[in-house]
Amino acid sequence: MKKVLITGSQGFIGKNLAVVLKRRPDVDLIEFDLDSPKGLLEEALAEADVIYHLAGVNRPECEEAFQEVNYDLTRHLCDVLRRRKELPLLVLSSSTQAALQNPYGLSKRAAEETVFDFGRDTGAAVFVFRLHGVFGKWCRPHYNSVVATFCHSIARDLPITISDPKKEIELVYIDDVVHRFADVLDGGRPVFEGRYCSVEPTHRISLGALAETIQKFRNSRVSLIMPDIGDYFTRVLYATYISYLPADSFAYALTQHTDARGELAELLKSSQMGQIFVSRTRPGITRGNHYHDTKVEKFVVLEGDAVIRFRSILDDEVIEYRVSGREFRVVDIPPGHTHSIENVGESDMIVLFWSDEYFNPDTPDSFSMVV
Ligand SMILES: NC(=O)c1ccc[n+]([C@@H]2O[C@H](COP(=O)([O-])OP(=O)(O)OC[C@H]3O[C@@H](n4cnc5c(N)ncnc54)[C@H](OP(=O)(O)O)[C@@H]3O)[C@@H](O)[C@H]2O)c1
Repeated sequence: MKKVLITGSQGFIGKNLAVVLKRRPDVDLIEFDLDSPKGLLEEALAEADVIYHLAGVNRPECEEAFQEVNYDLTRHLCDVLRRRKELPLLVLSSSTQAALQNPYGLSKRAAEETVFDFGRDTGAAVFVFRLHGVFGKWCRPHYNSVVATFCHSIARDLPITISDPKKEIELVYIDDVVHRFADVLDGGRPVFEGRYCSVEPTHRISLGALAETIQKFRNSRVSLIMPDIGDYFTRVLYATYISYLPADSFAYALTQHTDARGELAELLKSSQMGQIFVSRTRPGITRGNHYHDTKVEKFVVLEGDAVIRFRSILDDEVIEYRVSGREFRVVDIPPGHTHSIENVGESDMIVLFWSDEYFNPDTPDSFSMVV
């Protein structure tokens, strides 16, 4: 069992790291933040095997707090640790801004040097991570993360302000940070750039493009067009956006196209994955009776009883498949085959459809022909 201390455990990175470490049976986690009981830090420092020092300030009300928290707390931590015989492994969450001459950067650089001195003087293993802007769930909006602010505001239809749309920022995703931090527990060696550890991959994007991408995520509930989740950055940015949805906005209605046959609603569209839609059909009704030149589809009856009929448009033989919602079964619809689906049950039939392209009324690739 390893005793692990996280300072700043109530912060953005701290919460995400704590969740991952609490899942591990070999970790006994001690969490320290501003509201922790007096003396807890010193007690934990005396016995922890691994320390993740995340406590810090990014946007304090007064400038002195940079020095007091980012530097003084780090120095206190190292001073207490120096009294130990068996030294713990120390991970410092620093920033690429430590290379800059601003009050935040200077305080982080002072903290880095304190940790390096501690490692050099005592022989303890120290890892100083210089992180780019971290984004992901649970980051406070209107604080130090433009991703958090944009996601929070756009998810609530609030206006956003973009100082310079062309300005580029470099980002890293929270789970990549947390997993690299956690690797250290298992003896993993982080990627080093000189003395500093880094987390890959990083993602460069302009503020304008970032805002536009998040707006598209928001609009996807109406356009139904899914982001390109094959692209890692888009996938994790979308997950981040979804994490900022207000609690009363998780659900949204689909547009239902209703006629005498029943209802049909489109669910999702994607240029990589095509389209998913769902229908409800009254008993005795037949849908389809058309063929496609190239488009292929899959039908899955979720509820009810159906007969799916096919005929190659080049001959007369009719093929039948009887399917029911009692056994989920996928039926492929090959091109050049006119096809239909009839509800042969007593109640409504519900069918899930996938097609390899999304419906375009100008080029529908759909031609009427009775099976
Ligand atoms: N997020 C990033 O993009 C990023 C990038 C590079 C480096 N870093 C560094 O990574 C660390 C964690 O970042 P984060 O984004 O998780 O920041 P965060 O959300 O502000 O979390 C920091 C936590 O530390 C707490 N804290 C402040 N002063 C403390 C003190 N004296 N004793 C104990 N706890 C204290 C904060 O409490 P309050 O909220 O009440 O102040 C907060 O819960 C910070 O050191 C930051 O400089 C972050």
